Amino acid sequence: MRRIAVINGPNLNLLGTREPYKYGKNTLDEINGRIAAEASRLGAECLFFQSNSEGELVTAIQRADGTGGIILNAGAYTHYSIALRDAIAAISTPAVEVHISNVHAREEFRRVSVIAPVCAGTIAGFGSYGYVLALYALLEMGNNSGER
Ligand code: DQA
Repeated sequence: MRRIAVINGPNLNLLGTREPYKYGKNTLDEINGRIAAEASRLGAECLFFQSNSEGELVTAIQRADGTGGIILNAGAYTHYSIALRDAIAAISTPAVEVHISNVHAREEFRRVSVIAPVCAGTIAGFGSYGYVLALYALLEMGNNSGER
């Protein structure tokens, strides 16, 4: 069974109450439940992790090496964490960068992603459905490159 790591960064544990007009009303548990259900329907399994700490996210990315892919919403670390970028670059597992909001339609500093160049692709602006889209993308990539 293909395993996909779903990794969320700082403040995403507050989804549901955090600026719901930007990030929606669903909690992280609800979003993860939807991803898990879709994964199981497609014969895959998801491993979920959230942390507000940069170092714990680096470790989670390293540990996800050898899985079928990483769905990563790095939150604000997206915009400046070279440590996360290096972690993604160091492993052979593809990562898809996800943002709930359309970061390109917001403040200037959110348009910069230091992790984008080392990710397989980026999904932004489709709300929490972006995580499901990332799942589809990783499973499709896996189908084209052999089972992991
Ligand atoms: C976010 C966008 C980031 O700029 C922000 O810091 C977040 C959430 C998103 O999902 O839209 O924490 O990654």
